Amino acid sequence: KAMAGKTPERSFIMVKPDGVQRGLVGEIVKRFEQRGYTLRAMKMMHASKPHLEEHYKDLSSKGFFKDLVAYMNSGPVVAMVWEGKDAVKTGRKMLGETNPLASAPGTIRGDFCIEVGRNICHGSDSVESANREISLWFKPEEIIAWDPCIKDWIQ
Ligand code: TYD
Repeated sequence: KAMAGKTPERSFIMVKPDGVQRGLVGEIVKRFEQRGYTLRAMKMMHASKPHLEEHYKDLSSKGFFKDLVAYMNSGPVVAMVWEGKDAVKTGRKMLGETNPLASAPGTIRGDFCIEVGRNICHGSDSVESANREISLWFKPEEIIAWDPCIKDWIQ
């Protein structure tokens, strides 16, 4: 039941270029839908290097930063906003650990990948970074307010 007067938590979830190229967009969307999260925004885009450098700016001093940006710029990504109870922490659990080899089977990374630098998906690591990432990737009008209650479409 929606919490009266409180905006449900949102996370920024992204299918990375390898996830898109491997045909895993539907699989990842399916898991968030089935878990009960509400899709608020989604777009495919080929992100520029400056945009990706801004997205990953907290990692700019890391040795893998340049390779990370090149990988993320190597093809289109699918950027999404998913909303619902505990979306950030539970979203991270659904993704698995940063290193796919440490990710439990049943998680997205634990089921589909083995390389840290090719880990197919991104999820915000805190509510604060979710808000920053959502405003970096989406304009306010691209975040859609809609009623996820099931309507009588069929009968
Ligand atoms: P990070 O934000 O630490 O992890 P997460 O994506 O789980 O929030 O790192 C961002 C991405 O950088 C990570 O998904 C894969 C890449 N990366 C490497 O390529 N090598 C590394 O050693 C680490 C820690 C991350």
